[in-house]
Amino acid sequence: LNPTVLETTERYLEEQRALVEKELERLLPRADEYPSSIHQAMRYSVFAGGKRLRPILCLESGSLFGGDGKNLVRVASALEMIHTYSLVHDDLPPLDNDDLRRGKPACHRAFGEATAILAGDALLTLAFSVLASPGPPSEACKLRVIHELADAIGTHGGMVAGQVADLEATARTIDAATLEFIHSSKTGAFFRAAVRCGALYTDATEADINRVTVFGEKIGLAFQIVDDLLDVLGSREKLGKTVHKDGHQNKATYPALHGIEESQRIASRLVEGACAALEPYGTRAETLRAIAHFLIVRTS
Ligand code: IPE
Ligand code: IPE
Ligand code: MG
Ligand code: MG
Ligand code: MG
Repeated sequence: LNPTVLETTERYLEEQRALVEKELERLLPRADEYPSSIHQAMRYSVFAGGKRLRPILCLESGSLFGGDGKNLVRVASALEMIHTYSLVHDDLPPLDNDDLRRGKPACHRAFGEATAILAGDALLTLAFSVLASPGPPSEACKLRVIHELADAIGTHGGMVAGQVADLEATARTIDAATLEFIHSSKTGAFFRAAVRCGALYTDATEADINRVTVFGEKIGLAFQIVDDLLDVLGSREKLGKTVHKDGHQNKATYPALHGIEESQRIASRLVEGACAALEPYGTRAETLRAIAHFLIVRTS
C-alpha cells in the first residue's frame, strides 16, 4: 500500500468503525439493566476498543453486491459480538491466560472469571438473537446467515475447533498442515463467514459468493499469521495486548514454525491470492482489496 492509499484506507476504516459502534450501542443492553454486572462486563469488552475489521469486511462485501446498509450493519454488529465473546474466553486463565485486551485489563481481570465466562456466553447468544429478530431480509436469507455463522464458530473446522487444536498443539511439535488447520479454523473461518454473510444478505450469485469465500479464507489466514508476527515484532502500546506471549507459552505459530520472513511472505502471497479472486469486479472491489492489504501492514 502506498502512503496515500494507506491513509485513505485508515480514514475509511475509521468511518465504518463509527457506524458499527453506533449500532452496537443500540443493540447492547444498557449498563444499568438488572443484573447490571453482566451488562457492564459485556459493554466493557465490546467498547474497550477493537478494530471492527470483521464487521467492516461484512459491510464492504455486502455493498459490493448492492446490499441494504441498514440490514448489513445488524449482521456486522452480530459479528462483532461473537468476535468479542471469542476474545473474552480466549483470555481466560485456562486458555491463554492474558491480562490485557484492547488496551485494558481483560474482562476476567476487571469483573472476575465467572462474570467473564457468562459475558462471553451472553454476547454469543445476543448475536444470534439479533440475527433472528423480526424484520428484513427474508427468513430464508436470515436462516442461511445464522447457519453459516454457527458453523464458522463451531467444532467442524470452525473457531472452537481451532481453539481446541491450538491448546492441544501448545508445547508440542506440529507440522505445517496442522498449523494451517489451526489458524484457518480459529480465525480464518470467521473472516470467511464475515464476507460471505455480507454477500448472502444481497442478490449475489453463487459465483459471487464463491469468490468472496476464497477472498475471506485467504485474508483470514493471513490475518492470524500477522497476529502471530505482531506478537514477536509489535508493541504492547499499539496492540493493546501483551507481546512475546506466544513464545513464552510455546504456542504453535507461523513465525515459530516458518521463521519471520517466510511467514511474512506467506501472508503477502495469501493477500495477493485473495485480491486476485476479486479480479472480475475491477475497481468496484478496490476498497476490499485495500483492506486486505491493510491487514498485513497493520501495527495494531
Ligand atoms: C484478535 O483479533 C484475535 C485474533 C483472531 C487474532 P483483532 O486483532 O481483530 O482484535 P480487535 O477486535 O481489533 O481487538
Ligand atoms: C485467537 O488467537 C483466536 C480467537 C479465536 C480468539 P490468539 O490467541 O492468537 O489471539 P490474541 O493474540 O490473544 O488476540
Ligand atoms: Mg488463543
Ligand atoms: Mg490469545
Ligand atoms: Mg495472537
